Amino acid sequence: MKALVTGGAGFIGSHLADRLLAEGHEVDVVDDLSTGSLANLADARRVSGGGLTFHQMDTRDPALVQLMRRCRPQVVFHLAAPKPAAGAVESAESHVVGSTRVLEAARQAGVHKVVYSSGAAIYGNPDPSDLPLRESHPQRPCTMVGVAQKAVTDYLYAYRETYDLEFTALALAHVYGPRQKPGVGGPVVTTFASDLVAGRPSVIHGTGGATRDFLYVDDAVDALARAGTRGGGLLINVGSGHETAVRDLYRAMAAQAGGPATADRGPARPGDIRRLALDPGRASIHLGWKPWTTLAEGTASLLEWWRADPA
Ligand SMILES: NC(=O)c1ccc[n+]([C@@H]2O[C@H](COP(=O)([O-])OP(=O)(O)OC[C@H]3O[C@@H](n4cnc5c(N)ncnc54)[C@H](O)[C@@H]3O)[C@@H](O)[C@H]2O)c1
Repeated sequence: MKALVTGGAGFIGSHLADRLLAEGHEVDVVDDLSTGSLANLADARRVSGGGLTFHQMDTRDPALVQLMRRCRPQVVFHLAAPKPAAGAVESAESHVVGSTRVLEAARQAGVHKVVYSSGAAIYGNPDPSDLPLRESHPQRPCTMVGVAQKAVTDYLYAYRETYDLEFTALALAHVYGPRQKPGVGGPVVTTFASDLVAGRPSVIHGTGGATRDFLYVDDAVDALARAGTRGGGLLINVGSGHETAVRDLYRAMAAQAGGPATADRGPARPGDIRRLALDPGRASIHLGWKPWTTLAEGTASLLEWWRADPA
């Protein structure tokens, strides 16, 4: 297979490039390097044997059409996205305009399928009694990123209806693992790992009772790779189905790392979703997928990665 990965110099995209190359596919990466980095593709370059080509380009660039016509991928994995903390206008421009450009380029280049990585933010702030969420749950996003991802998912259906461009949209749970960037307001598992390895106090925002469905990056990448050939025309949740409270996550990671058993408290963040877990039933049926990394295994491996290369 010839694949093109947008956002392939980022966290999940670079792991996906590694996986596709390891399976013997040719991979073109399109990334504007606004937050991603070529260092994330160092492993891919080493093992690619010439199968990896990098293109520095913004997905909103009209030249994406020519580039895709030249590369002629069969499948486009669309993972380019701005920081989750991006403002409403930047988020809409990058997600919505960038994604319609990707779809338009894919259509014009005769691409067979687009795989899109959406997030649970499309569902908004669900009632806990509805957890773990199924794909039939109403989509009432309450964050800028959720609104933008829902719009992109609607475009996917429209392009399939209008132009026969196949798609699979994966609603990924909270993905964590090596190469993810930590930081204030950033991904909680990675931020705890970097704090614990550096001996810095961690901050839990709110009571710590908020729950998330944590998914190790290799498991997320496995679902993406499977979606290259399966699950056509579907939105598919990719999560474990289990909730873990942020304060329990911190306690477990602190015990693994030998860090302080309690974290500092910070103010709750506006728009934070209270509780979340995604039902993996449809992923099991249509992708033959289930997560195989336990949270304890995943956090241990992440801590080891941070210890080996804290820079
Ligand atoms: N990390 C998670 O927990 C998670 C959960 C659900 C969904 N997702 C989605 O998965 C995708 C990948 O997430 P990630 O965590 O790897 O993000 P990331 O920020 O690590 O990677 C995004 C990449 O896209 C690039 N990029 C940004 N805007 C671009 C543009 N306009 N043109 C070209 N490249 C651009 C960045 O440079 C970066 O390399 C995103 O769409 C994200 O919304 C992530």
